[in-house]
Amino acid sequence: MYILKDQDECRLVINQSSLSCAMSLVFTRPNTNAIGKKDKRLMAEVNASPLKHFVTAKKKINGIFEQLAAYIKESSSFLEDAHKNEELDPVTTEEQVQEVHGYLSKVAGIGEVLARRHMKCVFFGRTSNGKSSVINAMLCDKVLPSGIGHTTNCFLRVEGTDGNESFLLTEGSEERKSIKTVNHLAHALHQDEDLDAGSLVCVMWPKAKCALLRDDLVLVDSPGIDVTTELDSWIDKFCLDADVFVLVANSESTLMQTEKSFFHKVNERLSSPNIFILNNRWDASASEPEYMEEVRRQHMDRCSSFLVDELGVVDRAQAGDRIFFVSAKEVLQARVQKAQGMPEAGGALAEGFQARMFEFQNFERRFEECISQSAVKTKFEQHTVRAKQISETLRLIMDSVHVAAQEQRIHCLETKDERQDRVEFIDKQLDLLTLDCKSKIKRITEEVERQVSNAMAEEIRRLSVLVEDFCMDFHPSQTVLKVYKNELHRHIEEGLGRNMSERCSTGITTALQTTQTEMIDGLKPLLPGPVREQVDKLVPRQQIFSLSYDLACDKLCSDFQEDIGFHFSLGWTMLVNRFLGPKNTRRALMGYNDQVPRPMALTPVSTSMPPFPQNSMTQEELMVSMVTGLASLTSRTSMGIIVVGGVIWKAVGWRLIALSVGLYGLLYVYERLTWTTKAKERAFKRQFVDYASEKLQLIVSYTGSNCSHQVQQELAGTFAQLCQQVDVTRQNLEGDITDMNNKIELLDALQSKAKLLRNKAGWLDSELNMFTQQYLQQGR
Ligand code: GTP
Ligand code: MG
Repeated sequence: MYILKDQDECRLVINQSSLSCAMSLVFTRPNTNAIGKKDKRLMAEVNASPLKHFVTAKKKINGIFEQLAAYIKESSSFLEDAHKNEELDPVTTEEQVQEVHGYLSKVAGIGEVLARRHMKCVFFGRTSNGKSSVINAMLCDKVLPSGIGHTTNCFLRVEGTDGNESFLLTEGSEERKSIKTVNHLAHALHQDEDLDAGSLVCVMWPKAKCALLRDDLVLVDSPGIDVTTELDSWIDKFCLDADVFVLVANSESTLMQTEKSFFHKVNERLSSPNIFILNNRWDASASEPEYMEEVRRQHMDRCSSFLVDELGVVDRAQAGDRIFFVSAKEVLQARVQKAQGMPEAGGALAEGFQARMFEFQNFERRFEECISQSAVKTKFEQHTVRAKQISETLRLIMDSVHVAAQEQRIHCLETKDERQDRVEFIDKQLDLLTLDCKSKIKRITEEVERQVSNAMAEEIRRLSVLVEDFCMDFHPSQTVLKVYKNELHRHIEEGLGRNMSERCSTGITTALQTTQTEMIDGLKPLLPGPVREQVDKLVPRQQIFSLSYDLACDKLCSDFQEDIGFHFSLGWTMLVNRFLGPKNTRRALMGYNDQVPRPMALTPVSTSMPPFPQNSMTQEELMVSMVTGLASLTSRTSMGIIVVGGVIWKAVGWRLIALSVGLYGLLYVYERLTWTTKAKERAFKRQFVDYASEKLQLIVSYTGSNCSHQVQQELAGTFAQLCQQVDVTRQNLEGDITDMNNKIELLDALQSKAKLLRNKAGWLDSELNMFTQQYLQQGR
């Protein structure tokens, strides 16, 4: 055995087998003044308790779970928002939202469990083998009751508390009991309360007093396994979450069947439990030094065979690190003395104390290494795997959201492009179609004007037939004439309208409809399907279109003044009329010789006379002037007549004159007698035809342009309606483009958030991989 200096507080103590390793560790230790940062860290690792491995792993995994919980919270609200968003197509499913929401409570639960995780070691052995003494030695204080005979009468769980006060807690009670009562509670001899062997008392010991308890280590003392028959329930209650079992055997005897069978049971319930065997009371060997090595070998063989062959929990090479020969009583005594400032090796200590002391320390080191490694795996591995599964699931979900958002974004971009193309197409086509429709409308309106004018001219020519067709009692009295005229106006209005309609309407309506159909066919491709059907209905609606000729005969002919008085055909007026034509008669008879044009007379004859153009004398006008002069001469001198009569008398003789006068008189009488109402009506109608024809002539071009205007209005109306539909379609397309832009913006945000969360999941996964590599795969 070699003893290393203890003053440097290096707890690394080794037996002969690991001497070389210990030497290298101790003697290569550099001067602390000269060491660098990296060396300091390495030294800190060497000096640190192996239990720190568990502590740092716990801190690390807790940190990862905190981040995982925050990540799940963020992901859950992101998915919920994305799922609720009605502006977009679904990018996530209800199941995904629920699944991620469910992880919130799961991960929170795991986090709580992890925060409470600790390393647990349970000490078993027969009564008085020194279980309580071993724990006290490890705690460097006499915490638990120990003594000869059956001492510990229940399970005692020792764990660290942050305060400076130590106290006890019993099962089912929150009451803190004084540590001084531990003997009353747990000592079989001083038992005040009736505690069952399977019950548990927690001993809360200040962490400040004991380095072991600072590192989440819990030590559980048990009653001797030979004093109970309830081993199965003990296993259920205290062993299932234990990381290490220490079998405290008595080196003065040998492993008993009771001890073996208990650990067989433990081994059946737990897979490969970590078991240490402490051959306690090894100080007794000092009294028989000659057999010491043989006894040690005997114990070592039997214990190895038990661990390796019977339980199969370690292989033979590792068995040496699980079996130790110690004296708990000596270690406790030495440590208590040291704590009191006395030399630890003082007092009545048996031969070989230091070696046993170092072997106990070596046990402690191996135990700490084993329990921290084992606890990290058993307590964290399963949760690490679960966390990896969760982060992987979330990564896949975020990936699917990202892909769905991307697909939707592409679709939106395509739709937007398509709509924009369509708007451009509509604009271009509409410009072209507008030009085309304008020229069509112009062409058709010109055609309508021409047709209507021609038809009207034709009808005017045939007006006499229409007037002849009019039948109504005629009477020259003013009252009857007024009624007669009104009815005649109505008859003409209707007749002309009907005839014009017969001549033009069919052709015009057909041309109109053809143009409308062409317009619709031209604009239809610019409209969406459902609107096209509506547009088709525009044509039948147009069929009700009919031209309104609106000749307003009554107004047009309101100035008509008939002349149905008797006029002898050989009378002076009639002769002049016949000779000069109706236009000039009145002027001739009234001595019209001034050059200023007068307003037109109200007679049918005079009304039809156009105003005289000034300074343009025609041949006819010259004749009028001559006769006017003649008439003037006649009226001025009666002598002229007598002179003329005398001249004629002399030339032809009185008989011929008498015959002529007789014939003249007879003709007058005849005409006077035949001037009946019928004749008056005929004269009236003839005058009316002449008058109306001239009046209607004046409105031929007006009616033509009126009709063409109607057609133009109709076509322009149809085109405007179609353009309105196109405008609505265009507006809808613009609306679609705006919608698409908004959607694309939303999807961009969604996509980048999903990507961020996917990357976060990847980062968490790498953190978990690092944790696995650093803490879980070590030593595999
Ligand atoms: P129970 O609680 O009754 O099951 O016993 P235990 O296993 O807890 O034994 P405990 O620690 O109470 O020790 C029993 C007696 O053995 C005590 O009087 C201790 O002082 C003594 N003892 C413990 N360890 C050693 C040791 O290493 N050497 C010697 N000589 N005596 C020891
Ligand atoms: Mg005990």
